[in-house]
Amino acid sequence: MSEAGTEQARSRIAALREQIEEHNHRYYVLDEPVLSDADYDALLRELQELEAAHPELVTPDSPTQRVGAPPSEGFGEVVHGRPMLSLDNAFSAEELREFDRRVRERAGLADVRYVGEPKLDGLSLSLRYEQGVLVQAGTRGDGRVGEDITGNVRTVRSVPLRLRAGPVPERLEVRGEVVIRRQDFERLNAARLQEGERPFANPRNAAAGSLRQLDPQVAARRPLTLFVFGVGECSMPLGDSHWQVLEQLGAWGFRINREVRRLDGLDACLAYYDELLARRDSLDYEIDGVVFKVDDLRLRERLGFTARAPRWAVASKLPAREATTRVRRILPSVGRTGAITPVAELEPVEVGGVTVSRATLHNLDELRRKDVREGDTVMVRRAGDVIPEIVSVNREARPAGAEPWQMPERCPVCSAEVIRPEGEVDYRCVGSLQCPAQLRESVRHFASRRALDIEGLGEKVAEQLVDTGLVRELADVFRLTKEQLLALEGFAEVSANNLLAGIDARRHVPLDRLLYAIGIPGVGDDTARLLAAQVGDLDFIRRAHPVLFALIPGVGRAMGEEIRSFFADERNARGLDRLLGEIRVTGDEGFAPEYLDTITAEAVIGSLGLPRIGPTRARELAQKIDHLPELVALAPQRLPVSGAEGERLRAALAELEGELAAMDTLLADKHLHWASDRSRARVRGGAAQRPLAGKTFVLTGTLQEMTRDDAKARIEALGGKVAGSVSGRTDYVVAGEAAGSKRDRAEQLGVTILDEAAFRQLLDGTSA
Ligand code: IVH
Repeated sequence: MSEAGTEQARSRIAALREQIEEHNHRYYVLDEPVLSDADYDALLRELQELEAAHPELVTPDSPTQRVGAPPSEGFGEVVHGRPMLSLDNAFSAEELREFDRRVRERAGLADVRYVGEPKLDGLSLSLRYEQGVLVQAGTRGDGRVGEDITGNVRTVRSVPLRLRAGPVPERLEVRGEVVIRRQDFERLNAARLQEGERPFANPRNAAAGSLRQLDPQVAARRPLTLFVFGVGECSMPLGDSHWQVLEQLGAWGFRINREVRRLDGLDACLAYYDELLARRDSLDYEIDGVVFKVDDLRLRERLGFTARAPRWAVASKLPAREATTRVRRILPSVGRTGAITPVAELEPVEVGGVTVSRATLHNLDELRRKDVREGDTVMVRRAGDVIPEIVSVNREARPAGAEPWQMPERCPVCSAEVIRPEGEVDYRCVGSLQCPAQLRESVRHFASRRALDIEGLGEKVAEQLVDTGLVRELADVFRLTKEQLLALEGFAEVSANNLLAGIDARRHVPLDRLLYAIGIPGVGDDTARLLAAQVGDLDFIRRAHPVLFALIPGVGRAMGEEIRSFFADERNARGLDRLLGEIRVTGDEGFAPEYLDTITAEAVIGSLGLPRIGPTRARELAQKIDHLPELVALAPQRLPVSGAEGERLRAALAELEGELAAMDTLLADKHLHWASDRSRARVRGGAAQRPLAGKTFVLTGTLQEMTRDDAKARIEALGGKVAGSVSGRTDYVVAGEAAGSKRDRAEQLGVTILDEAAFRQLLDGTSA
């Protein structure tokens, strides 16, 4: 390698490092990414390649070193330059008042300024920088000596490997807390479960466990975040106040908690505590307290330390979210979709100010994993509004003879069979809406805010309606009468009228709400909106093959399978038909052009999952067919697949034969066709070709130039409907010779009447 080449590499490497760290900082510290993942990866790859070609230029502060050093045998020691102290606690407003009184007394001041910070529940860290470069990172240990976990800490993207700006001290210790943020934690645990690994009990354990890994490559894959809150040893002054110190740390590229606040006097501190307590659940990390620190650094020096903690700071504890209690019984609870959840009935215990007497165990796997048994002493946890859950069991306290819990073989509510569908974690009652528990929950869901939003129909009323037998299926909600309601406990004239008015107000239902309300497993309100916006045709949604959903981004084939199996259940299909007899669906107007553009023959064939049919062969096949079912006849002969493979393809296609024909019929019914232009074998039709979509016609009298059947076919081909009688919903009456009463009725109702010539004009004008 020439010297000039090395020089060039050196300057490119420096530029790349600076760019990459800039983007790391934006992404991991400021939460303001400006670069796409792909562009970021390209920069990182270029740097990796250059460093591979010039190993002599690799330094420990290069972003490539964040991927993780080789595993070590054990951790060395770190001697902290200044001890890592702990904090005294205040367990009440009174104790906080007491702290403030002591501070003011010692300071001889009427009012003291504090800085309030969330007390993060993670793992405490000290980072050592020399000349601005990270050289060592250690745990707190006993406060004086901790474990050297530098290799792991380097992988944490919010840790600057080199201080970003300005003059840097020769020696600097930065103190902070490593946490895993809530969404990251949930994602991490979901991934662990998928891989058959034990999930972590809480983010704190996950963070601590990750930093204690001997293999930094493992730590590198964990979503750790460092928040810094102070300095230890420092060879130059960073300011007069703690606030200024935090600002300086921020300028060097550290992440400072954005909730940090300057607070004048005790009252401001109390208000800040209340505010953080109220917002606890919406923060994206766990906190277990609020720290108040004297802001003025000179005053801090005067206040000094006790043996274990500074006199200038205090931690106001938030109410604990965990408590210990005993499991009285474990009961199977049946949900809306029939999933049976084991629920623990507890000896009532106060957790964070609320009395808890039930906790969910999620499912049988979870219960087995934690091995919870009746009579066990357990730790329960309540976070925000979610149902309390059991975190762990104290095995030592287990009473003799406690047996593992068994899933019942029959539904505890309706006695239908309990099964565990293949590949699912939940056991299910097969009773469907015949099961009162499922019906009750379904009615509640049906009426809930994001579904039909029926005012006055909440949990309690749903229960009453189902338990009294007034509602045996969803359609019954629309058949309720005032007399029936008046017979129910708690209903009087006004409440009955109000509920009926609430129900009447929802007889026109937007398609997306309907799709969500009927409770197809897995179809949440987002999916329902996507389906309504893209497919926009209830009949199509009911009949479509799962691959036709596979083509919609955000929906996908698995969801398509759920939709199909929902409608394949006759009880669901008939229940929906009866519901449709009571309501009018709006927004059921047909396909979005983008969706139609995705239904190419090629895409459909590619999604079928046929053996040996990759994109290229899917395209070849697509160009040879006019109708999907032809695939069956075509593939074995025309495709270069022979022998055993040919056999397998033939068998797979034969298996699909009926489905392909059904798909073809569905598309034809919707006036969608494979284009005859072979080079673009693509579904055509839809909104643009269906100008009469949503229009209802009534034919009356005798037409001269076409039969009634022809007229009907032409209307339907253009998306319209033909009805038998005239009503307020009729858009056009086509009146031929000798039209009678229907024509009169149309006149009464003010419906547009077309004679044969006008009708032809309409057809020709729209089909041109
Ligand atoms: S200040 C000398 N500020 O709480 C003062 N600590 O009980 C040292 N912690 O080991 C701590 N958030 O790990 C401080 N905003 C915060 C904190 C915080 C969490 C942890 C820290 C420390 C423990 C003290």
